[in-house]
Amino acid sequence: MKFSFQNVQKSFGDLRVIQEFSREIDDGELVALVGPSGCGKSTLLHMAAGLERPSGGAVHADGRAIKGPNPERTLMFQENALYPWLTLEQNVALALEFQGTDKARAREQARQWLAKVQLAGFEDYFPNQVSGGMRQRTALARAFISHPKALLLDEPFGALDALTRMTLQDALRQLIREVGPTVLLVTHDVDEALFLADRILVFSPRPAVVLKEFNLKQHEKTHDLSEFAPMRREILNLLGIETDADTDDTENAPTESFTYSTEEAAA
Ligand SMILES: Nc1ncnc2c1ncn2[C@@H]1O[C@H](COP(=O)(O)OP(=O)(O)OP(=O)(O)O)[C@@H](O)[C@H]1O
Ligand SMILES: [Mg+2]
Repeated sequence: MKFSFQNVQKSFGDLRVIQEFSREIDDGELVALVGPSGCGKSTLLHMAAGLERPSGGAVHADGRAIKGPNPERTLMFQENALYPWLTLEQNVALALEFQGTDKARAREQARQWLAKVQLAGFEDYFPNQVSGGMRQRTALARAFISHPKALLLDEPFGALDALTRMTLQDALRQLIREVGPTVLLVTHDVDEALFLADRILVFSPRPAVVLKEFNLKQHEKTHDLSEFAPMRREILNLLGIETDADTDDTENAPTESFTYSTEEAAA
């Protein structure tokens, strides 16, 4: 699914949240949205989800103005929204049942998707009987089971510890390869953005504009992000976080073999 944001502006009453946002998001692309708290990242996702309307400009999905929510565009939050009274399997199956799949078939597919996120054997557990990471794995299975054309992820792993987060990022990347949705990923974790994204947009404080865009050359990325050290530093600096040139890993960064292109937002 292609998204097109054209001169999007958004205010809540007198509060101007999005100053101006114009971007095309290609089919199958994963774009990470990074910026200070309260700058309007979730608001942008909500507009893509059809939960909010822009105050100015337009948001299109595959050429059509977004008028409301649609299961083709699936939103996933930091706080997993699993139903506590349903088992993991029932939670995942529900996504298909909502779309008219019969119960038995939905259950069978739910088991398959739970296995894909390493939860085979936990089908009959309730959400409060498994860990936070396992709940988010379940939420991933539920998000992917209906093969959405677009996934709108709002800090999906923000509540998890760093190690669990990395294993969930691996699981997410695997699912994305299999299903191929367009993904908008809001994250506070610059390493997560570097690991997962094809493109990173760094936003200013509210009212948000894109300060800079980073295009990550497509290649096999691992969690060893040392080659991205210069980009990481630049993003952190844009977010107002000091990086100490004396203690960073400049010497280890292979700047010669590393290429990435950037575009100034004003261009
Ligand atoms: N429905 C709403 N009504 C009024 N104000 C809102 C509404 N939704 C968001 N806002 C305001 O818009 C601004 C941006 O909110 P948003 O949730 O998009 O920020 P964010 O970038 O996602 O922040 P965070 O990183 O903390 O999640 C905030 O000041 C918030 O108070
Ligand atoms: Mg938010």
